[in-house]
Amino acid sequence: MCGIIGYSGHRPAVPVIIEGLRRLEYRGYDSAGVAFVQNRELSIIRAPGKLRELEKKLECVNVSIATSGMGHTRWATHGLPNETNAHPHRDGDQRIAVVHNGIIENYLELRERLGAKGHTFVTQTDTETIPHLIAEGLKEQGDLFHALGWALAQLEGAYAVVVVSAEEPGVVYGARKSSPLVMGTGTGENFIASDIPAFLPYTRDVVFLEDGELVRIDANSWQVFDAATLAPVKKTVQHISWDVQAAQKGGFKHFMLKEIFEQPRVVADCLAGRVDRCSSAVRLPELDGMAIPERLHIVACGTSFHAGLWGKLLLETWAQVPVSVEIASEFRYRSPLVGGRDAVLAISQSGETADTLAGLRLMKERGVPVIGLCNVVGSSIAREADRVVYTQAGPEISVASTKAMCSQLTALAVLALHWGEARGVLGAETRARAVAELCSLPDLLDGALPAMRERAAELAREYSEAASFLYLGRGHCYPLALEGALKLKEISYIHAEGYAAGEMKHGPIALIDPRFPTFALALDDELLPKVVSNLQEVQARHGRILALTNEGARVTADDVWNIPRAWGPLAAFPALPALQLFAYEMADYLGKDVDQPRNLAKSVTVE
Ligand code: F6R
Repeated sequence: MCGIIGYSGHRPAVPVIIEGLRRLEYRGYDSAGVAFVQNRELSIIRAPGKLRELEKKLECVNVSIATSGMGHTRWATHGLPNETNAHPHRDGDQRIAVVHNGIIENYLELRERLGAKGHTFVTQTDTETIPHLIAEGLKEQGDLFHALGWALAQLEGAYAVVVVSAEEPGVVYGARKSSPLVMGTGTGENFIASDIPAFLPYTRDVVFLEDGELVRIDANSWQVFDAATLAPVKKTVQHISWDVQAAQKGGFKHFMLKEIFEQPRVVADCLAGRVDRCSSAVRLPELDGMAIPERLHIVACGTSFHAGLWGKLLLETWAQVPVSVEIASEFRYRSPLVGGRDAVLAISQSGETADTLAGLRLMKERGVPVIGLCNVVGSSIAREADRVVYTQAGPEISVASTKAMCSQLTALAVLALHWGEARGVLGAETRARAVAELCSLPDLLDGALPAMRERAAELAREYSEAASFLYLGRGHCYPLALEGALKLKEISYIHAEGYAAGEMKHGPIALIDPRFPTFALALDDELLPKVVSNLQEVQARHGRILALTNEGARVTADDVWNIPRAWGPLAAFPALPALQLFAYEMADYLGKDVDQPRNLAKSVTVE
């Protein structure tokens, strides 16, 4: 959702903050703002639109003296994305400023109470309540630290907040509850941010903050407290191995393209230490000592949900573990029937998705063991799950998820092999073949991606006038059809629907006409004859077909796109980047904002 950074150090703060916001812009980008204290005066500068609009405004202001401050990129939840509603927000006396990510659920009630005490509000946001509440706390408690603790105790909902005040120049406070916030500790400078890339050029030493913690930083020190009791909390500094390069575009036009091209490495990194090519051994030490579940419930959203659907096929085939896969926002609001020997697998790139996190908490309350399959180290799901398997894909910046899904598929394949072997239901031959084929994927993808991109660009131009697309697939290609449609719609804004090919005749076939193309996943597997029959149904209605297939497969279509073959269900690995590249090239050709599509945010920390 929103991106937050707070800084206190020896450098001019505003450029550091803007640079940090740029690396957080994937989290929200409908307005941005900064706050800093100069000559004991609080200054706030905000602008609607993308970060560059804020930068233009800052060019006319002298910001060089401030060495501490904070910034925010917004993804609106309350009120229009205009300048008034942009963060930071302040109290009536303009002494306290707050940036916030999350939703304050009791803000109307708080507003009413504060209004009765003479506070007036100028925005439509829930956030504006917070600086007013802290100002009220200051009157009662006497100092900012205690006022903050007092105010936080009254907030209901989810928040990560950063606070600066003219009362304490050089000091920045932060607090979190159900929204991400991490601290970076440098030499003579410290940071608080929603995500690590914000401060990666300055430090890789990170302190992960827990829900209910309050942090105070200045240039030379930091301290974490329990927000409720204000007692100090002992924290450990963790050194993370990501580098700045991984969080930058590295010569690619967009992060999305860079991340698609990183997939060969992503597969290799996810397999590293988990499979041994020579002995065909498969290890997942993260799950050592954990009983193999009788049934597995996969809970996830969006692309991660599609990865789960694909994983179900492998887990049921290789490990013979029955699997249900459910959208987290549905799962959390029903009473799922979960048995004593079941387990839950929460799949989430960010590890912060509110619905997935809620599903995890629901299951933990019922005593069901939860495994987190996450990319972001130290994220909420990673920390709250009983076990965590990291996908090790590195930072994913593009809002449209690409390499994360590739890494999730890899990890799910390893999990299926691991459990299959542990249960004694996986033949040694299948395991050896699967391991060898998994290990060959990085080279296969590396060799295939450049030509795939060229073909994707050609086809995107050819189909750029389509207003709608139908994506069809069967078996392990059905989740891919869903994912292809999701990618296309989210970044090119072309309507697209993913369907199980066999289900088409039960309704969607009514849509077929010459202007409504079908993107068919027609890989050369045992279900191909069935898919071909479905395509004939489309052709009989004069529907145009673009078929993703393999050289030599018997597929007739208006446009055939041959991709390399891969063994069995691993054929998903070359198909996935083809779908991603088609969506990417389409969006780029249509001039859309590929990395930051409208109305979306990378990390959906509200339900
Ligand atoms: C699509 C996309 C989203 C996410 C979804 C879940 O490209 O990025 O659909 O997959 O919001 O996010 P995570 O995996 O972070 O829980």
